[in-house]
Amino acid sequence: MDKELDRYGFEMDLVRKGNTPFYYYNLDVLHATLNEINRQIEGWPFTVHYALKANGNPRIISEIANYGLGADLVSGGEVKAALEAGFKAQEMTFSGVGKTDWEIRLALAHEIGCFNVESIPELEVIDQLAGEMDTTANIAIRVNPDIDAHTHKYITTGTSENKFGIGIEALDQVVKHAIDLPDIDLRGLHFHIGSQITQMQPYIMLCETINRLQDHYENQGIRFKMINVGGGLGIDYQHPDDHPLPDLEQYFNTFKQHLNIRPNQRIHFELGRAIVGQCGSLITRVVYVKENRDKKFIIVDAGMTDLIRPALYEAYHEIQNLTSRQMDHMETYDVVGPVCESSDAFAHDRMLPTSRRGDLLAIRSAGAYGESMASTYNMRSLPSVVFFPSDKH
Ligand code: LLP
Repeated sequence: MDKELDRYGFEMDLVRKGNTPFYYYNLDVLHATLNEINRQIEGWPFTVHYALKANGNPRIISEIANYGLGADLVSGGEVKAALEAGFKAQEMTFSGVGKTDWEIRLALAHEIGCFNVESIPELEVIDQLAGEMDTTANIAIRVNPDIDAHTHKYITTGTSENKFGIGIEALDQVVKHAIDLPDIDLRGLHFHIGSQITQMQPYIMLCETINRLQDHYENQGIRFKMINVGGGLGIDYQHPDDHPLPDLEQYFNTFKQHLNIRPNQRIHFELGRAIVGQCGSLITRVVYVKENRDKKFIIVDAGMTDLIRPALYEAYHEIQNLTSRQMDHMETYDVVGPVCESSDAFAHDRMLPTSRRGDLLAIRSAGAYGESMASTYNMRSLPSVVFFPSDKH
């Protein structure tokens, strides 16, 4: 017998049985997204790496590994998790401005595909450690292309005021240095201009910058085996039911059309949010409805410890009441959590059906940077997790 799904596609049995607050992962949405990625890149020299930082849940990452994607990692812990999930070491990239010695050694021991190197001191340490281990490190130099991705200031990464990468003015020197180092194999260049990017213009500018740089280096006889364009493709936080998948066709077409791909060259992508963002919702129970003189508050049992994006970036997440008995009667609420911080709010002045104690709310598009950024502040427990369909293993 088919299980009861609510109007937004939630299996209500699972929702009611869950121990709130919990993440509800819709694996059908995840699989549809992964199938679409593989469809879009078929026949192109493209490798998509999943950025584990977006969601490191062991079940989610092993589902993704099964689709043949590579992994984009930023810590030794992520290297270990990716290996356990079944990602191939050769298809791993390791980014981050502060890689420590043990993390570099771990990645070298597993002969990962590529280190994305962010500074000269880091380059020299990787060379030294590779030498000590009698191996060679494959690297790409992370270039800061000074492109404004027009996204939130905390998640833009490609402008010159940013800590990431090496500025174009210093690149010649770093490229030459990397070529000269004995235990470094310089394979290419890496870029990442920011996150939650929904307009293609910044990506077109990125392609043009890459084309110019490649011409410049080819004139000096330097050819790159690979280019890594990073991640950042955004999702529709406003309308998750209308757009459960990101616009992957438009995204990959931008690179197919604007990037001058050299013969035998591979183009690497590092997508996080676009892969897992829409498959996850945070389910939370209304604890109290409280009215002040000017405002009505829905107080829920989830807080910024479970999903920090609204508190940290003023991020918008769609909120749906899955159990309201008065779906047609709307009121304006602030939806807030129990944590002792004023910023612990999921929404301000949001129109929602009249809500009562005990109602279950879904905070949508929480698959990326939700569970992975959860904390135990206020000695709260970490959120639990439920998978739909529940019988798939
Ligand atoms: N590659 C690099 C080098 C990155 O720094 C990032 C994300 C990615 C790939 C994946 O980006 P994505 O495709 O997911 O946009 N916590 C923030 C987002 C931080 C993104 C950090 N870097 C949020 O909740 O919006």
